[in-house]
Amino acid sequence: MALDPAQLQQAAKDHLWMHFTRHGSYQDNDVPVIVRGEGAYIWDANGKKYLDALAGLFVSQLGHGRADLAEAAAKQAEQLAFMPLWSYAHPNAIELAARVAGYAPGNLNRVFFTSGGGEAVETAWKLAKNYFKLTGKPMKHKVLSRTIAYHGTTQGALSITGLPGLKQQFEPLVPSTFRVPNTNYYRAEEHGSPPGFSLEEFGRWAADQIAVQIENEGPETVAAVFLEPVQNAGGCFPPPPGYFQRVREICDEYDVLLVSDEVICAFGRLGHMFGCERYGYEPDMITCAKGITSGYAPLGAMIASDRLMEPFQEPGAMFAHGYTFGGHPVSTAVAMANLDAFENEHVLDNVKDNEAAFRATLERLKDLPIVGDVRGDGFFYGIELVKDKATKETFTAEECERLLFGFVSKQLYAEGLYCRADDRGDPVVQLSPPLNCTQEHFDEMEQILRVVLDKAGSLL
Ligand SMILES: Cc1ncc(COP(=O)(O)O)c(C=O)c1O
Repeated sequence: MALDPAQLQQAAKDHLWMHFTRHGSYQDNDVPVIVRGEGAYIWDANGKKYLDALAGLFVSQLGHGRADLAEAAAKQAEQLAFMPLWSYAHPNAIELAARVAGYAPGNLNRVFFTSGGGEAVETAWKLAKNYFKLTGKPMKHKVLSRTIAYHGTTQGALSITGLPGLKQQFEPLVPSTFRVPNTNYYRAEEHGSPPGFSLEEFGRWAADQIAVQIENEGPETVAAVFLEPVQNAGGCFPPPPGYFQRVREICDEYDVLLVSDEVICAFGRLGHMFGCERYGYEPDMITCAKGITSGYAPLGAMIASDRLMEPFQEPGAMFAHGYTFGGHPVSTAVAMANLDAFENEHVLDNVKDNEAAFRATLERLKDLPIVGDVRGDGFFYGIELVKDKATKETFTAEECERLLFGFVSKQLYAEGLYCRADDRGDPVVQLSPPLNCTQEHFDEMEQILRVVLDKAGSLL
């Protein structure tokens, strides 16, 4: 029996443990309950409409309410609802693996399906360790990643994550991970870059810190470096020109595997199937999830180069790793239908054709004193909020709490914009709309953001 809105509220408060949620804040407030979606819009249980400016959680590339994807799921569930990939296969997994390998650059031809992004990251680290054990470099096991980067919540992926606030309560985590600087040019000097560097010089410096860290740890112990094409946490840090080319050189020099964590950046977010394509580098592995199904079913994947599978093709060899739901028949059917729609509806072209307009529309907000920086690429942007634009002074923890969570977050939602205010680095508003959005959606985002951020500025 369906619950009415009041009953849903009570049951949510009594029973539902939400993710990354301060449950205490819902004691006197309603839990936002979303019941329906259509295109770029979602509706709550009271019938109020919101623009989904975050694609759910960087997921809903094609938007909501698509009958073709729902039908693909229903059809597959009827024909074969479940079969694992443990020594068996099913056609959707095979066809999707071939299709994804076709989109992936160079010789990244081997696709290991998971149920989501964190599992793909775990898989990549385990493969890196196992590969080097089988190829005569058994000491190579350590991982480098960037400060403030998020790579997932399972203990391995969390260990790779560069956000101390998410890790402390779960220590000790998996040992052997180390941080290098991220590519936040807006705050480059605060994070250790020599003063006065151009963007290119900063990129070269940031990439070179990977070599420094590999030397510090001992090259014979370092297995992999995990980097997002555009780092999400901290508010969208695109790579400076030449950054990834230098990283690739370093990885080749030290025989360290380059893992492109594209859980957000793959499947059109940056106007390409894979983010690495946009920035012209070829990783050894790609981790992806989210947009591969546009969220109509859960799925993730680790894509590896042919070289990394070779030792596992020897007689008796096996990568002893897997997930019951990895490459689920329904999810892979949905992914195929999703990618059909990408092609038929020229989704990548829509991002490429509209990204300059998206940027220009968001940049209008720079006239507000509270907007310090607008950064990103494709349909993936972060707006950094500052206390003082001239000095780039950021907020105290108390101000952040009061302003970001106490006002901005709530008010954006109240005004009809679903997006995310985040303070895992400096405070940012994150935007990542469905990939078929156009100017009218950008204008709507800008108008709501303008009203709310203007008011937030006056509360300082
Ligand atoms: C870059 C990156 N890696 C890994 C993950 C973890 O993915 P999941 O939540 O599907 O486990 C995320 C999630 O947002 C992510 O952004």
